[in-house]
Amino acid sequence: MVIKLWDGFIRGFHWLLVLALIGLWFTGGNLDYIEVFGVFIEFIDVHHKLGLFVLALVLTRIIWGIIGSQPGRFSSFVRGPKAILMYLRNPFQKEHLTHNPGGAIVVLVMLGLLLAQAITGLFTDDAIYFRGPLASTVSDTTVRALTSYHKQAFDYLLIVIALHIVAILVYALMRKNLVGPMITGKKQVSNEASSIPKQIHGGFGFLILAVNLVWIYWWLG
Ligand code: HEM
Ligand code: HEM
Repeated sequence: MVIKLWDGFIRGFHWLLVLALIGLWFTGGNLDYIEVFGVFIEFIDVHHKLGLFVLALVLTRIIWGIIGSQPGRFSSFVRGPKAILMYLRNPFQKEHLTHNPGGAIVVLVMLGLLLAQAITGLFTDDAIYFRGPLASTVSDTTVRALTSYHKQAFDYLLIVIALHIVAILVYALMRKNLVGPMITGKKQVSNEASSIPKQIHGGFGFLILAVNLVWIYWWLG
């Protein structure tokens, strides 16, 4: 039977995150600018605004992981060491409705690295043009350390993202389509008896995102 797996917010979160990260990669540390109708827009300013957008996305995803639809709740997919070991021994033995125990770790690491990336961004100083909105609240040594973390840690994020995409490709080779549900929200499950996960309208997730965007841009924009 076909069930609704990922609600609109989770899907929107995922693909907006992918687009925003491409933009952040392109604009981070880029000293270039573009001219739109005679207005000069520095890439690093675009980077700042996109970084705040990702901060709001990730914070909302964390809230949605507690109060959102069942498949996206952390309690539905974060597992203990025993389940993780069992999964690693035989990844394809059991069908998992939501993220499998190994994938769950990758999801948590990605969210953690993204949060750290966005927060350290607030304390950066490129020593040329841009100073993060919270850089003046800490010492110069801290600013230097956080800027250096911000530049380096993106590579860790890229490694985890590569792992994420390779895992999805491996599942595709095993004829398990994970990408379809992340686009349409719907998943074909084999077990007729499997319970239907409780859904909360994704619109509520976007509402929380809007509230987060307002205070984040107001405070740090
Ligand atoms: C910038 C690159 C990417 C990042 C940062 C990223 C991040 C994430 C995160 C955080 C999740 C967890 C979703 C949630 O529970 O909210 C996820 C799941 C997922 N992502 Fe990505 N993703 C990226 C690229 C991609 C690409 C290119 C694809 C498609 C080929 C993809 C396909 C999926 C799928 C299918 C899932 C669900 C996996 C499952 O069923 O357990 N992702 N991704
Ligand atoms: C998740 C969000 C973010 C990601 C993924 C990200 C990613 C990056 C990347 C890839 C670079 C280039 C690193 C390099 O040159 O090797 C960079 C540089 C930079 N980012 Fe971000 N960034 C994010 C958020 C932010 C935020 C919110 C701010 C400021 C408010 C910011 C400010 C900067 C600055 C100033 C640089 C240049 C540092 C320098 O060259 O000295 N970033 N970022």
